[in-house]
Amino acid sequence: MVVTVGTCLLVAFGSTAAETNKSDPMTLKEAFKNDFLVGAAINLDQIYGRDSKGVPIIETQFNSISPENVLKWEVVHPKPDKFDFAASDAYVNFGERNHMAIIGHTLIWHSQTPAWVFEDVNGKPLDRQSLLNRMSNHIFTVVGRYKGRIKGWDVVNEALAEDGTLRESNWKKIIGDDFVEKAFEFAQAADPNAELYYNDFALENEAKRNGAIALIKKLQKQGVKITGVGLQGHYLLTEPGLKQVDETISTIAALGVKVMITELDVNVLPSPARAFLGADVSQRYEARAGLNPYTNGLPDSVQQQLARRYAGLFSIFLKHRGDISRVTFWGVSDGDSWLNDWPVRGRTSYPLLFDRNHAPKPAFHAVIESAVDTQASTSSGGELVEKAGAHKN
Ligand code: XIL
Repeated sequence: MVVTVGTCLLVAFGSTAAETNKSDPMTLKEAFKNDFLVGAAINLDQIYGRDSKGVPIIETQFNSISPENVLKWEVVHPKPDKFDFAASDAYVNFGERNHMAIIGHTLIWHSQTPAWVFEDVNGKPLDRQSLLNRMSNHIFTVVGRYKGRIKGWDVVNEALAEDGTLRESNWKKIIGDDFVEKAFEFAQAADPNAELYYNDFALENEAKRNGAIALIKKLQKQGVKITGVGLQGHYLLTEPGLKQVDETISTIAALGVKVMITELDVNVLPSPARAFLGADVSQRYEARAGLNPYTNGLPDSVQQQLARRYAGLFSIFLKHRGDISRVTFWGVSDGDSWLNDWPVRGRTSYPLLFDRNHAPKPAFHAVIESAVDTQASTSSGGELVEKAGAHKN
């Protein structure tokens, strides 16, 4: 009898999923409203409302935004005595107007940080204390300006090398290994209520992941506040494997921090080098034959492969919905993506859920469906338990 009830329920929920898929009444933020925030990184044209097709998508589909570039040091603090908050103010206003969770990206990074930051007036490398003063001034000024308005900050971005040791950045070379905890301490003092994140790519690779775990444990042992870890999620069609993503989320969540997927995209274009996984912005390759195969559109087989890849990734994210607080895409439509210019310039890339005309792709439907399927199985499972209990009584 219980089996019959269960079967009926599954059939009923199955048709709901099919209807949803046909007419798409559901948006990303609705689909995952009981699971995690769904965000997008937004660019200048979107912040200033010039992207008339992109903005409505951001406003209807997403409940969180990240700044693709406008809160990076080179934009917000271009000269020692000059801060420029024009674009970041507009970014924060955009998020507030739309009642979104507004993310700050990023305070301390080796990239998109001007050379002067690490030099004295004579162009010589700065000493530790002077660089700490500069770091503190930057963090207090930027975080302080948006205190209570920016929900969480990528305090330190990409501090780790691929082998799990600290990257030989200017931050590490001049300040020493403790530059990471100093940055978190300054950020906490600047806005005690803000969430504070460590963000990096390729933590799915074991050596680097172990480095991240050691780093987080060290911060926790020292009593430094760290709220969450961002897995950037710059993925390929087949790499990393779902099992690797699954294990990465589990092991990081086990540290007692939130996990976020912060810069999700799936690159369908050929890799210029073997086993090329990651997002090291300094790695660049020359364009050559074969590296840009889809200039006239994405073949249907690859389009479907991308949809299946996204469905697989979201099945893992949903499995961990108790630990994942946000999934953010790095861009809105394929035309926006940084992957059109990295790691090879001038390619035609297809990594996101909306195409160049801002139409939802099969990958979009696959992502929505993953949420509907999960809701259906959770609800029918719940019903079954209830009915079974009732039957017993
Ligand atoms: C990228 C932006 O998308 C580009 O517009 C910019 O030219 C370079 O940086 N990891 C990060 C992001 O943390 O800030 C990077 O964003 C992509 C890799």
